[in-house]
Amino acid sequence: MSRSINLALIPGDGIGPEVVAQGLKVLSAVLPQDVKLETKEFDFGAKRYHATGETLTDADVEALKQYEAILLGAIGDPSVPSGVLERGFLLKLRFLFDHHVNLRPSKLMPGVSTPLKGQPEIDFIVIREGTEGPYTGNGGSIRTGTPQEVATEVSVNTAFGVERVVRDAFARAQARPRKKLTLVHKNNVLSFAGHLWTNIFNKVAAEFPDVTTDYLHVDAATIFLVTDPARFDVIVTDNLFGDIITDLAAAVSGGIGVAASGNINPSREFPSMFEPVHGSAPDIAGQGKADPTATVLSVALLLRHLGYEAEAVRIEDAVSADLSERGDTTRTTEEIGDALAGRVAG
Ligand code: NAI
Ligand code: MG
Repeated sequence: MSRSINLALIPGDGIGPEVVAQGLKVLSAVLPQDVKLETKEFDFGAKRYHATGETLTDADVEALKQYEAILLGAIGDPSVPSGVLERGFLLKLRFLFDHHVNLRPSKLMPGVSTPLKGQPEIDFIVIREGTEGPYTGNGGSIRTGTPQEVATEVSVNTAFGVERVVRDAFARAQARPRKKLTLVHKNNVLSFAGHLWTNIFNKVAAEFPDVTTDYLHVDAATIFLVTDPARFDVIVTDNLFGDIITDLAAAVSGGIGVAASGNINPSREFPSMFEPVHGSAPDIAGQGKADPTATVLSVALLLRHLGYEAEAVRIEDAVSADLSERGDTTRTTEEIGDALAGRVAG
């Protein structure tokens, strides 16, 4: 039986094309012979915006729907006004394709330095709700630009939206050896949303008796992420808290060069999108200095989502081995990609 992967590529801006090329190289190297890889490149990002004024058209959305998954480099450039590509492309796609599970693993691999003391055990995943909270654009301002300006930015939390992400988090926690799930919120102060999250979390917990549960206020969670990251296995949290703590998680577990993420639609109604956490890094673009590891690890998440578990593990093992031998040597983007492709093929 022949199998195939139909993949949309969005290299994007800055270092995006450099790291996506290496991600694709490793993907091609890891796939068994009988799997046919078909890719199509899309030109979203700053260049397209400057040329046409477009960020993501209806026709673009229809075209992307034909793919099983999307691999994104990074979108954004200082030449584009702040917010245009974030709202017009990244957030728009996340909402249209209902990417409600934002998955960000944090694993401190051997040989990777951390700003934390000692070499703490760090191996957890954060599941950030991706379509609700304060990111829905539910707000506005009046008397804008005057000394009497009033602005609102309402956090939207639905029982439907919270339950589906909490359920996904329990299932992912159950599949891991430690089977522990921590809800992070601020339910003592944000009591309306906090009540909804806490109640649904406790209700779903009853269906997963083998998963140990825990609760932390978001401010306490930031302390423990630094002083005792080993206490975490799986974290589930809302869109805004998740945005913030995942950057902290990336910082303590090897940095932006290795932080991968998936914007997942678990129902598979629309393609899920995988991307490094970092941006387009205009300061190092075009110099071969970008570390493609985060993109390669995003490819592993992509493969796992599509059911290629053994191939995902091969990539993660290759990255782990490469990082432990990397030391202080400086290699180009391409050299790192070649080394990883060599390891997964071998
Ligand atoms: P950034 O992540 O692009 O860069 C932050 C710092 O990390 C820079 O010093 C950069 O050189 C370094 N860095 C990032 N990725 C690296 C890699 N793979 N290897 C080595 N060093 C790396 O964040 P910044 O500067 O805030 O944003 C630059 C642009 O990227 C902006 O236009 C921003 O909007 C966009 N952006 C896009 C994202 C996306 O596409 N999802 C996410 C974050 C930012
Ligand atoms: Mg962020």
